[in-house]
Amino acid sequence: DGTDAQSLMTLCEELARAAGDHVRARTGDHGGVAATKSSVNDVVTAVDTEVETLLRERIAAARPDDGVLGEEDGVVAGTSGLTWVVDPIDGTVNFLYGIPSYAVSVAVVAGGADPLRWTVLAGCVHAVAGGTTWTAGLGRGAWRDGEPLTVRPAVPLGQALVGTGFGYTVAQRTREAAVVARMLPQVRDIRRIGSAAIDLCLVADGRLDAYYETGLNPWDMAAGSLVVTEAGGTMTGLGGAPASPAMTVAAAPALAAELVAALELVIA
Ligand code: IPD
Repeated sequence: DGTDAQSLMTLCEELARAAGDHVRARTGDHGGVAATKSSVNDVVTAVDTEVETLLRERIAAARPDDGVLGEEDGVVAGTSGLTWVVDPIDGTVNFLYGIPSYAVSVAVVAGGADPLRWTVLAGCVHAVAGGTTWTAGLGRGAWRDGEPLTVRPAVPLGQALVGTGFGYTVAQRTREAAVVARMLPQVRDIRRIGSAAIDLCLVADGRLDAYYETGLNPWDMAAGSLVVTEAGGTMTGLGGAPASPAMTVAAAPALAAELVAALELVIA
């Protein structure tokens, strides 16, 4: 009935690629900032909205009984128990400035739109500018452009290249700046790539050793989180909590444990 991991994975990838084609076509003429959200830095372009509409139309055509949660238009409940969680452009600020790290993120989850309760069944992160596509299916594995992925073996925290990101409000950034100031001396270096979905896939891919961020949104993390865990990585929060919008840590298991311990000391 199309709900097996393979069919859902295929549909995630078809949707993400179709959305990516639209973003690519509009790259040179996105029209700038169309609106702002939580702060003046939290921007939306016309393309974000167009792509979310495209995704919602295609999901409604392919799977009319499923729910959809999207960055721009919120949640529409379904009746099937499955919910599509979509970010039309993760890394909108990069897209706005022509920096090539932005992606379409499409996932399908069971158990509703709350990351603390959902099970991600399949996901695809399609990096539009570079054309790289990461996919994962629950219990099936994770791939980059068809190549199976395994996280790089854990290195000590002091030798780890760590990705992170920041929210858009002054209150978020004030908290995050204090954390990053205390983490930076403890690691090899820190990267702020500007797309949480890509950060997670880079951990799965062994190009970042680890990643942490506070204040993510469900659509930033849904697809990428499955790519991490299906590549053998750990997704977690602090204090034994699962990964959530409050705190997401991703790394090979032993490094995730070390990073969690360091963050707990910094945040306590
Ligand atoms: C943002 C990006 C960024 C992260 C922010 C997200 P958006 O998503 O993923 O890397 O640091 O927390 O909100 O707004 O570009 O979809």
